[in-house]
Amino acid sequence: MEKKDIIKIYNRYASVYDFIFSRVFSPRINHGLEKINIKNGDTIIEVGVGTGLSLSLYPHGCTVVGIDIARKMLEKAQKKTKRLNLKHVHLFEMDAENMMFKDDSFDHAVLPFVITVVPNIEKVVAEVKRVVKKNGNIIIVNHFCNNHSFFTSLEKFVSPFFMKLGWKTGIPIEFISNHCNVHVKEISKRHSFDLWPLIHAVNKK
Ligand SMILES: C[S@@+](CC[C@H](N)C(=O)[O-])C[C@H]1O[C@@H](n2cnc3c(N)ncnc32)[C@H](O)[C@@H]1O
Repeated sequence: MEKKDIIKIYNRYASVYDFIFSRVFSPRINHGLEKINIKNGDTIIEVGVGTGLSLSLYPHGCTVVGIDIARKMLEKAQKKTKRLNLKHVHLFEMDAENMMFKDDSFDHAVLPFVITVVPNIEKVVAEVKRVVKKNGNIIIVNHFCNNHSFFTSLEKFVSPFFMKLGWKTGIPIEFISNHCNVHVKEISKRHSFDLWPLIHAVNKK
C-alpha cells in the first residue's frame, strides 16, 4: 500500500481509533516499555505514534518525541498531551523512512503497531538505527504471522479487516532479525496465546 493511501486510512479512522484499539494495544505497549529501563533524562523516539495511546505511559523525567504521517492521528495525540499536561512529549508530522533528526539523537526507540503498516520495513528500521545511539533499545510491538495452524486460520479470517487498516499480514517475526540488521535480545509475549509478540532489539551499529 502506498503512503498516500496509509495517510488517507488513518486520517479517516482517527476519530474512532482509540475506541476500537485502546484496550487491545495499550497493555501491549506497556509491556514493551517495561522492557526498557527508562531513566530521567533519557530521550525516546516513538515511531507511528498515532493518537498517542502510549504517551501517558512514559515517565515525566524523560523526553518523548512522537512522529506520524497522518495529521488527524497526530491532532488526537496533541489534544491528549494538552489534556494530560504531558510537557515532556513533542509531536511531529514526519515520515519514518526519512526522519529529520541527527544521527544518535535518542536513547531508545519504540515502534508500536507500525512496522507492518509501512511500505518498506527495512528502510524504517535502518532510519531508526541511525537516529538511536549505539546499544540503545529498540522495542517493536506488532502482529507477525504465526506458524500454529489454529492461529493461521484465524489470521486468514481477520486478514481482510487488517488489510483495510493497511496492515500487511504474513510477515514472520524472523524478518526483523534476518533482514533489518538488528540484534534481537528477546522475543516475548504477554501470555502464551497472545498474537502480538514483542521484539526487544539492541542497536549494534
Ligand atoms: C496501527 S497505527 C498504530 C498507532 C500507535 N502506534 C498505536 O499503537 O496505537 C499505525 C500508525 O503508523 C502511522 N504510519 C504509517 N506509516 C508511517 C510512516 N511511514 N511514518 C510515520 N508514521 C507512519 C500511521 O499513520 C498510524 O498512525
